[in-house]
Amino acid sequence: MSALTDRLYEGAVRLLEQAKRLVVLTGAGMSQESGIPTFRDAQTGMWARFRPEALATESAFRDDPSRVFSWYLQRLKMVRAAHPNPGHESLVAMESRFESLIIATQNVDSLHSRAGSANVLELHGSLERFYCADCGETVSTDEVLAAVRRGGEKLVSPVVCRSCGGLSRPGVVWFGESLPEEPMREAWEAARNCDVMLIVGTSAQVYPVAELPHVAWEAGASLIEINPDETPVSGSCACTIRDSAATGLQRLVMLLPPHEMD
Ligand code: OAD
Repeated sequence: MSALTDRLYEGAVRLLEQAKRLVVLTGAGMSQESGIPTFRDAQTGMWARFRPEALATESAFRDDPSRVFSWYLQRLKMVRAAHPNPGHESLVAMESRFESLIIATQNVDSLHSRAGSANVLELHGSLERFYCADCGETVSTDEVLAAVRRGGEKLVSPVVCRSCGGLSRPGVVWFGESLPEEPMREAWEAARNCDVMLIVGTSAQVYPVAELPHVAWEAGASLIEINPDETPVSGSCACTIRDSAATGLQRLVMLLPPHEMD
């Protein structure tokens, strides 16, 4: 560990020690160490293998519902087989250290909630929810999983809505769609009111979520980034920790004063 890295961790701990309200903004890098690929990493990212406009848009779903539905089912199976990593667990351990700790995540894998974090805002929805693309009625995930079992590795047609006969779609936000209203409102309010925003594993390129660090910064919060690579928000951060999510968050928990932790 270099002296510079030590200083960056010390700086981050000083900011966290003084903070009462912490917002943690997470992206795909948060779950990379759980074995879930990111989107934009050059060789391994999902968007290096698939075109987003062919899988993550309403028009892609209308053009080829089975292809899109099956891709999300495969992702659901992958995240169900994965486990929260020490980074997720460190955020749970940090909770008691702050008056409020809110996680605003772009991840649809539910790993923060599965780790036990109490306040999670899912800004891009969840792979665990399905609803009818026509009438909006919720479609049971159990029914969807039964379709996965029937389909095996083959293309699976979307489960048909019991109310209107429309096709079910995953409860994730696709490109061109609005973010879910309530979590979005809460995330923006939390960003305006936090003392520190910890930004973990996001390329900070996808709007409107990429606005959140600016909202926090303009309201006077300090920003800390944990990401092996530089991002568009790095320049506004008081501390940039160039480690993975699991390494960075475990080390921060270790360095935070023990008497103030659970
Ligand atoms: P990206 O794939 O764009 O960015 C992942 C970030 O994580 C990059 O900056 C990596 O450097 C970093 N990273 C990789 N491994 C890491 C690790 N082990 N620890 C910490 N950081 C690591 O993912 P997001 O920023 O989440 O939206 O992408 C935002 C949105 O774009 C996603 O929610 C998704 C995608 O298209 C939709 O599907 C609508």
